[in-house]
Amino acid sequence: MKPASTSNGNGNHRLSNEALRGLVDDKAGRLDPRIYEDQAIYELELERVFDRSWLYLCHESQLKKPGDFFATYMAEDPVLVVRQKDNSIRAFVNQCRHRGMRICRADGGNARAFTCSYHGWSYDIAGKLVSVPHEEDGYRCELDKSQWSPQQVPRIESYHGLVFGTWNESAPSFRDYLGDMLWYMDGYFDRSAGGTEVIGGMHRWVLKCNWKFAAEQFCSDMYHADFSHLSALIAQLPEGIDPALGRLPIIGKQFSSSGGHGTGFFTETMGTGQNINGPIASAWFEGPGRAEAIQRLGETRGSEIFGGHMTVFPTFSYLPGIQTLRVWHPRGPGEIEVWAWALVERDSPPEVKEAVRLGVLRTFSAGGIFEQDDGENWLEIQKVLRGYKARQSKLNLGMGLGHARTDDPKFPGKINNVYGEEAARGFYRRWAEMISTGVSA
Ligand code: FES
Ligand code: FE2
Repeated sequence: MKPASTSNGNGNHRLSNEALRGLVDDKAGRLDPRIYEDQAIYELELERVFDRSWLYLCHESQLKKPGDFFATYMAEDPVLVVRQKDNSIRAFVNQCRHRGMRICRADGGNARAFTCSYHGWSYDIAGKLVSVPHEEDGYRCELDKSQWSPQQVPRIESYHGLVFGTWNESAPSFRDYLGDMLWYMDGYFDRSAGGTEVIGGMHRWVLKCNWKFAAEQFCSDMYHADFSHLSALIAQLPEGIDPALGRLPIIGKQFSSSGGHGTGFFTETMGTGQNINGPIASAWFEGPGRAEAIQRLGETRGSEIFGGHMTVFPTFSYLPGIQTLRVWHPRGPGEIEVWAWALVERDSPPEVKEAVRLGVLRTFSAGGIFEQDDGENWLEIQKVLRGYKARQSKLNLGMGLGHARTDDPKFPGKINNVYGEEAARGFYRRWAEMISTGVSA
């Protein structure tokens, strides 16, 4: 393998591809903390992880008619996602090819064209440069406009309303990319014939932490829930706490994908009969919502998975049951922007949608009582990692090591206990494979 030429911004270290792969020892369950704070590793992530993966762009319900657009990011690159006249979806870099100004400075809306605010170059909704001020007296009619359009995202796919894009022309289809995660994803996003929609606007906030803390936790970590979130759980689901255990009596499983995706879920209710979004949401999720899901997906996915967490590698996460959907946009090794929405079944009654909207606001949003517990942990770790010594010791990634099985009678793929780090090992293994290879894996 060709050595990776990396420097940490001060130009004082280089890591070979072999050394990069060694940052994650998923067989022994050890993790090198430099993966969270090193600028050179981050630059490689942009090139080798984000430039090759399928990344979440938006939900189709945000692009109802031609000209509807949503301004988002693929890692650090701003992109415009736009519904076309033929109903297809295109995405292109939100960067004017003249001096590089952002073509569109709005967050979303409807447009017939996008005109750069600097010198007025104008692009149609497909991202084609169509008009340039002073084309005659300035450019003397010598500018070939067809050569000066922003880069198009070459592959876009919609999966049950979720729109993903990738720069990687040779990437597998999104469904193949999900691999054995598809069964679980269908269980979360294909429960109703009417499909899903995002409601209530978007929550955005900044956290001073590495993106992998958030993505990995949603991929794999039920472990922290009844410890970090105990106060929030007592406030929100007091009847769910087992007095003898002093915590939620969680029984469940965790699934780890070779693609780095993962999910964990309860296989038995906690005896509360209560969705965390309150009684109105509960009655619907456990009544008509569940009945239709059983019909579409069968008993196991329809009614034997109660809430949970999931991440599609690298940065798209969702909490089924709680209904928060989010993307962790990286902003350097030590910062993320969280963009989050509430997701509902389109066919569910308005009062259920409102209950979910308020529930998500209360639990997982910038001011959500659970969200603040998570954010506090991630950014404290990031602060600790400023320490020289703190970066020298490997971290423990070993829970449940050697106890995965692939013959679970109900749940396909590699399965371990819900309290475990099987999916975290899968997440970091995939990350290490990608960061240590110069070509797409
Ligand atoms: Fe966009 Fe000049 S930078 S027109
Ligand atoms: Fe949490």
